[in-house]
Parts: sequence; C-alpha cells; structure tokens
Amino acid sequence: MINLGILVSGNGTNLQAIIDSIEAKRLDARIKIVISNNPNAYAIERAKKHHIPVFIINDKHFHTREDADKHLVELLKSHRIELVVLAGFMRLLSPLFIKSFSMKIINIHPALLPAFPGLHVQKKAIDYGVKFSGCTVHIVDEGVDTGPIIIQAVVPVHSDDTEKTLAQRILIEEHRIYPQAIQFFTEERIEIKGRKVVVRNCHKTEDVLENPKVEIFK
Ligand code: GAR
Repeated sequence: MINLGILVSGNGTNLQAIIDSIEAKRLDARIKIVISNNPNAYAIERAKKHHIPVFIINDKHFHTREDADKHLVELLKSHRIELVVLAGFMRLLSPLFIKSFSMKIINIHPALLPAFPGLHVQKKAIDYGVKFSGCTVHIVDEGVDTGPIIIQAVVPVHSDDTEKTLAQRILIEEHRIYPQAIQFFTEERIEIKGRKVVVRNCHKTEDVLENPKVEIFK
C-alpha cells in the first residue's frame, strides 16, 4: 500500500477512476491528499464526496511558480506522500518540485508519446491524420511529456472523429491504464533503466492492430 498525492485541475475523471479502483480493491493504495490549482475544478467535489482531504493551491496567490511549488512540496511531504499522481494537472512543475520527488511523479497524457506532447493533443492527432492515437502514463522529468514511459494504450482515430469523440475514446483507456500503472508501483514492479521502464512479471501483448482493416490477407 502506498500513499498517493493527486494533483488535479479539471473534471477529475482520472481521479474518479483511481478512487473507484481503490474502492473495488483492484488498486492497493491510499489517497492521502488531493490538491487542485483551480478552485473551480469539479475534481474537488469528487474528492470531498469520498472524504479525501482537499487543498486548493491557487497559482495566482504566488509570485512565482517556484513559490507555489515550495508550498506544494511541503504539503505533500507533510502527508508522507510516496507517489505524486498528476491527473489532469494543467501546469508545468518547476525543477525544484521534480527534484523533490525524483522518479516519484507520474502523469497521464492523452496521446501516444513521443507523438503530440503539450496541449490540445486530440485535435493535433486528428489534424495530422494519424490512424491511431491513445494515452501514455509516464514518469515526469524536467521536460514536457518526455519522461520514461510506463504503459500506453492505443485507440483508432476515425475519419469522422471530433476532438470530443476522440478525447472520450481515449479517456476510457486512461481510466484503465492509470490505476494499473499505480498498482505496478504498489507491487514494486517498476524498474527504471535510463529511459526505459521495465515492469517485472508483466504479460506481453502479441496482437497486431490495424486501422482500417487489412482486407486482402485474412
Ligand atoms: C485527461 O485526458 C488527461 O490525459 C489530460 O487532461 C485530461 C484530464 O481529464 N492531461 C493532460 O493533457 C496533461 N497535459 P480528467 O480531469 O477528467 O482526469
């Protein structure tokens, strides 16, 4: 069982997926604290509903990002957080924060990294014309969405997709892979070798994906 500190900014469906996985006993972790940098985030209501302590650290109340991050680090350390989980946390963390929890911060990103880092990535994937997109759970380093990859899931991009329909299809997979990635930490199965994350004793996927379907070889 590990102590999680979850950082949010928005709707909080990933937070909800983690809460539900813990309550269903699929995930052996404890959410000690939820922190939002947005006072209007719906994620706050979700946490309160499950009696999880919530703190709002409004970036606007601090002169610099480092000042806000110092406060964040103190709060997380005082709650003995072992893994910091970014669940739709929409601002970059300073090097100070990242060094304070080195290799102990994870993020979920709604694209198949290293393709489409940054923001509005579902629209970027559609505009680029990729046939598949998906989501990535990765360790956070000092770059933007550049850290070692723990787990990814793939979804097809359909020709009639909008940003909203693709985001929805990707979110379904996010809610599966994020709790799973945290469970890997709980079970101490994560080994980081340079850029690579090795998950000990995991099942291999051998299926081939194609989109559209290949019709001439059955
Ligand atoms: C999710 O799609 C997540 O991958 C994305 O924001 C959404 C948050 O949804 N995160 C990023 O883009 C981080 N750069 P949620 O608040 O419902 O979990």
